[in-house]
Amino acid sequence: MKFFIDTADVEEIKDLASTGMVDGVTTNPSLAAASGKSFLDLIAEICTVVEGPVSAEVTATDFETMMKEAAVLRKIAPNVAIKVPLIPDGLKCCKALSDDGVMVNVTLCFSANQALLAAKAGAAFISPFVGRLDDIAVDGMNLIDEICEVYANYDFSTEVLVASIRHPMHILEAARMGAHVATMPPKTLRQLYKHPLTDKGLEGFLADWAKSGQSILGN
Ligand code: G3P
Repeated sequence: MKFFIDTADVEEIKDLASTGMVDGVTTNPSLAAASGKSFLDLIAEICTVVEGPVSAEVTATDFETMMKEAAVLRKIAPNVAIKVPLIPDGLKCCKALSDDGVMVNVTLCFSANQALLAAKAGAAFISPFVGRLDDIAVDGMNLIDEICEVYANYDFSTEVLVASIRHPMHILEAARMGAHVATMPPKTLRQLYKHPLTDKGLEGFLADWAKSGQSILGN
């Protein structure tokens, strides 16, 4: 399973990239606006830190303007994935860009039928939002299960990119379902390392080792 981080905070991206766990980055207009940086500079900077796909979202909602925005974004770096909303013009844009060899991430997916449309449009990634479904008392992970089932019935190359992740259980369930990618806030990636028995066990090992008076480095 690939891990992407869902943030426009470049310092966080640098810090987490150094762990070797980051396979890509997703941004959205809300995250980009909150960064306070010029959007094009922001994406260019992220692309210097991470080799994998970096999603940059168009903000137009009509085909012609989306294509113009995509032309600007794709020039930034070869690892830019153009993110488009799951609306008819977004999928038209997805098809045109995919046919031209560009990675497209179709976002704001809330149903398996929408995911089917994105796959038919040649999307590299489909982004179903699990947390926002949970927020309205609909089981977000059930959507991932449905999409994985539907995609497995055909030979679509579209990868299921689980988005709007709020906690580690979303990631575990997505991995059990065989989703290709999870994009998560930096805090959630850090949470994956944590277990109280790991901390307690290490504390015990180090206390016992200190009593021995030895050092592996011989100092
Ligand atoms: O970037 C898309 C998605 O991951 C947004 O998540 O937490 O705003 O629902 P959230």
